[in-house]
Amino acid sequence: MNFSVIIIGSGGHAKVLISVLKLLNINILGITDLVADKIDNRTNGISILGNDNKILDYSPDSIELVNGIGSVSSTEKRKNIYVKFKDYGYSFANVIHPSAMIMNEVQLGMGVQIMAGAIVQPGCVIGDNSIINTGAIVEHDCIISEHVHVAPGAVLSGGVHIGAMTHIGTSASVIQGVEIGQATVVGAGAVVVADIPSGVKALGVPAKII
Ligand SMILES: CC(C)(COP(=O)(O)OP(=O)(O)OC[C@H]1O[C@@H](n2cnc3c(N)ncnc32)[C@H](O)[C@@H]1OP(=O)(O)O)[C@@H](O)C(=O)NCCC(=O)NCCS
Repeated sequence: MNFSVIIIGSGGHAKVLISVLKLLNINILGITDLVADKIDNRTNGISILGNDNKILDYSPDSIELVNGIGSVSSTEKRKNIYVKFKDYGYSFANVIHPSAMIMNEVQLGMGVQIMAGAIVQPGCVIGDNSIINTGAIVEHDCIISEHVHVAPGAVLSGGVHIGAMTHIGTSASVIQGVEIGQATVVGAGAVVVADIPSGVKALGVPAKII
């Protein structure tokens, strides 16, 4: 791959993405961050160029962006950054760790991030700006909308549907065929055995809405 990227955000998720980009020999121009006093710091060996507006110094056809904003529950900040720069005409690179297994008949949107050891089985659709994090398993025919975060070690059984901006917590499990709405948070370790509506938090085993 011979394009150059700028990473937005300098926290933990960005650090992991930088490792993947280095493994893939992708040229990283630098990082942007909202917090100006972080300038001159480095994350995982990469310099911070300035705040996010620094991106506008580069034309949209000369770089690709990587969304380094992670999420521990709400995915709103991550979504807003993506929408803002997409509206300016920038593209977001897909970042896929070489150890991730993505089977045939999988459709990936733009700016999808699939981290080390994750597995995505046939028939799945992963929407724009979504993260399938370290070691997560997405079984056959799952439909994952935009701006979704499937956190480390989460398991989605076959045919699960997940609405936009939803967060599936670390090590949560979802049984086959369940539909989860938009902007919902499934807590870490939850076991989801029935549909969950939009805009709620669901925790525990079996998962209950709080
Ligand atoms: C659900 C979650 C978002 C917390 O929501 P919150 O509204 O801030 O909840 P609080 O931390 O105030 O806890 C409220 C109650 O829920 C309980 N609780 C919180 N998270 C829980 C979970 N995952 N499972 C079961 N109970 C949980 C708390 O113990 C607390 O119980 P209490 O009222 O009896 O003391 C968070 O705990 C969680 O699981 N986040 C996912 C983390 C993740 O996936 N990280 C990925 C990083 S890559």
